[in-house]
Amino acid sequence: MSATQFYDVKLTYEDNYERGPFGDFAGLDKTPRSSKSYTGENTAQGSFDFFRQKVNTPFGIPAGPLLNEHFTTAAFRAGFDIATYKTVRSRAWGCNPFPNVLSVHPTSADGSLTANSPETIQGLLADTNFGEPSDISISNSFGVPSQDPDVWQPDMKKAIEQAGEGQLLLASFQGSRTADMTEEEYIADHVTAARLVVETGAKVLEMNTSCPNEGKGRLLCHNPELVGKITEAVKNEIGDIPLIIKLAYMADDQSVETMMRYTAVRQSVQGFATINTISAKLIDKNGNQALPGVGRETSGVCGAAIKKAGLDMVERVIRVQRSLGMNDKDCGVIAVGGVTSAADYVLYRQLGATAVMSATGAMWNAQLGEQVREIIAH
Ligand SMILES: Cc1cc2nc3c(=O)[nH]c(=O)nc-3n(C[C@H](O)[C@H](O)[C@H](O)COP(=O)(O)O)c2cc1C
Repeated sequence: MSATQFYDVKLTYEDNYERGPFGDFAGLDKTPRSSKSYTGENTAQGSFDFFRQKVNTPFGIPAGPLLNEHFTTAAFRAGFDIATYKTVRSRAWGCNPFPNVLSVHPTSADGSLTANSPETIQGLLADTNFGEPSDISISNSFGVPSQDPDVWQPDMKKAIEQAGEGQLLLASFQGSRTADMTEEEYIADHVTAARLVVETGAKVLEMNTSCPNEGKGRLLCHNPELVGKITEAVKNEIGDIPLIIKLAYMADDQSVETMMRYTAVRQSVQGFATINTISAKLIDKNGNQALPGVGRETSGVCGAAIKKAGLDMVERVIRVQRSLGMNDKDCGVIAVGGVTSAADYVLYRQLGATAVMSATGAMWNAQLGEQVREIIAH
């Protein structure tokens, strides 16, 4: 296994965008589509349903580490059957300054970080001593950068075309809140971004409502009524194409139910992808702010430390979905959070998840897609 991640955390975002992918993904995007076709023995090709598309395995990489077509194609060739193209916007958007990824070290006995962990407020040690792939936990601070649509649209189109048999490119987008924007303009910006994505030929869309966009510490998904308005407008634009919303961790069933009533129950949304990161105050070994710059006192934690929270949220979403008389055809669930092994994939599937994805775990173990294929085949 290569010591370098396919997204090299020691380089800037721009360097990764221009020169990546690295590590075990390096050069894989240049290999022909047929050279890494599915070879599972007992599982027929494309035998899993993923929002009306057939996929070889319901496993992939969520929005974030796959910056462009070079990354998504390499992910397909490496055996990840669902590759999510990093969240795009209706306009170009800059990236937070380097560094964007630090290792984090929760102190709880099982290494978990939950929304209630005291460290989220008191400070969580963050540095560059990255752990082992099996228990890797990081913080990522990018600010959801985006290329201009003139750049990402042709690139996303190519990315879609590079999917092999039983593979799918999931297209992630989000709205952009700018100063003095009215609510109508904000909703319209989501609609524009969705239309631009559909123009590339994307077959399933994911709308991110879980990155800080609404001012300090506030996420769009904390306002379910607004999410309801936005998804209704987006759905009117994209028609029959399935729409998934990406959600942050929610601590109680009522919040999930309210979100479901404003979205899936009204059929504007066909699935939830959850969780995104858990926000924590990051400190260095001297207790000072770990990431440089204003507004970066806190940052999102992902990887092994948030698996407990991910499992908790996925279980909650499925419980609420069933209590409302729905099933995964009405509101499918993409489980994300702390998946670092094929066994973690099994855990989430046993809860009833439609599909499972790994960001941090896959960055540190590029074989994870093949390992999940293996466990499904046997
Ligand atoms: C490097 C990196 C960049 C990310 N960027 C995005 C993003 O642009 N949009 C998004 O919805 N989530 C983004 N995420 C969050 C992931 O999709 C995922 O929800 C989170 O990392 C938890 O999964 P994990 O524990 O497998 O890492 C990013 C994660 C990482 C590691």
